[in-house]
Amino acid sequence: MSLLLIKNGLIVDTEWTRHSDILVDGAKIIRIAPHIDENKLPSGTNVIHADGLCVLPGLIDAHTHYHLVSRGTVTADSFEEGSKLAAFGGVTTVVDFADDNKMSLLDSLSSRRKEMSAMAIDYALHQGVYKYRAEIEDEMAEIKAAGCGTLKIFTTYRDVGYLVENRDELKAIFKSAKDLGLMITIHCEDDKLIQEIGSSWKGSYRPIDHASLRPAEVEAAAIRYVGEIAEEVGTSIYIVHLSSKKGLEAVRELRSKGVTVNVETTPHYLFLDKSKLEGADGALYVMTPPLRTKEDNEALQEALLEGEIQVVATDHCSFTREQKLSSDDCRTIYPGIPGTEELLPLINTFAHTSGKLSLSQIVNLLSTRPAKLFGLYPEKGALKEGSDADIVLFNPEWSWTLSADTLHSAAHYTAYEGFPVTGKVVMTYLRGRLVMGDDIYLGIKGDGKFIRARR
Ligand code: URP
Ligand code: ZN
Ligand code: ZN
Repeated sequence: MSLLLIKNGLIVDTEWTRHSDILVDGAKIIRIAPHIDENKLPSGTNVIHADGLCVLPGLIDAHTHYHLVSRGTVTADSFEEGSKLAAFGGVTTVVDFADDNKMSLLDSLSSRRKEMSAMAIDYALHQGVYKYRAEIEDEMAEIKAAGCGTLKIFTTYRDVGYLVENRDELKAIFKSAKDLGLMITIHCEDDKLIQEIGSSWKGSYRPIDHASLRPAEVEAAAIRYVGEIAEEVGTSIYIVHLSSKKGLEAVRELRSKGVTVNVETTPHYLFLDKSKLEGADGALYVMTPPLRTKEDNEALQEALLEGEIQVVATDHCSFTREQKLSSDDCRTIYPGIPGTEELLPLINTFAHTSGKLSLSQIVNLLSTRPAKLFGLYPEKGALKEGSDADIVLFNPEWSWTLSADTLHSAAHYTAYEGFPVTGKVVMTYLRGRLVMGDDIYLGIKGDGKFIRARR
């Protein structure tokens, strides 16, 4: 493979920002220097002039559900479609999920890995644990050895068999995770409270009712519950898709007691509120946890600016309009929305409007932090000599409008239709190979690699 030289871009890494050239040999960055003379490189070197553009490490969407088979259906974006929309969004690695088949974690992980071999961008996996069993620690050791660094725990979804109900069993899982060095990620909504609210509910079940049936208190209660177990065990936790101010307050309480709580939120909890659930197409905006109030949006935005949130990921879980609108009952509407492709433009726009978030901090939230937390760093999440040449050329000033017509999800809708945004991905390289350039997709099915977590 010939060399690739990216010249004169503004290189934005979490640690520094400066004008530099980047030299890539095959899949790796081999040199970063203020001036690399192309005349001294072998003929055939591919030279890209990045004047006026920012050069970012490939983004990591640390929370995706591509090709999720659940509730008797499958999500809209397959691995190929997910890879494509990710490349358009500057995302070169996703961390997706392996469901627990309740036979063996290794079996679950291996079969998800096999399915994901259709990916055109890189991927790692969080492994769900939905049931305690005597051998669970051995199973966890096996997945760790196989390159999985994270567990996914639910405090809800009893109806679909995801909930580990018994506290002692959950504590045993936390303890084993700590001993093995596995990160525990948790979806926090208290199932018992949800049941209680549901059983005394006299209202309807329209999309807007979803917000009342799973209120913010439910999230806060679950965060306190898992936080208490983490404190007893002496382990850290990672809360996925934090959605509310009450949940944030619960995180603050835990932190004040010395518990290490890593927090992920998503663009929809930052920028969308539950009024979206009120329209005729309210079902399109149903996800779990539900959208909250503007006050919640603002509390999370403030927390992001204050450094209280470690990662922004998307929980990309797309269904077509037809799938979403096939029910108007919030108990049966397929939950989830697309989001990977919109991630960077939305966060960059927030950075512009707030004036308080640098591109370097965005790189941290969307690339370096998830890489470090999930054991992918510095292969991923950095522009360093020796890192994978996952490189995004980004125009941070390009104004455009988010629309299903220009985005690439097979859902054929975006929850941000008509949102004016600033910042567009111009080129995306995966391990030195162009996968998206000038609005043309060049990804190859099967080129994605499983990235082993080193935790
Ligand atoms: O509604 C959502 N978020 N669907 C995806 C599954 C989950 O809970 O993350
Ligand atoms: Zn979840
Ligand atoms: Zn999810």
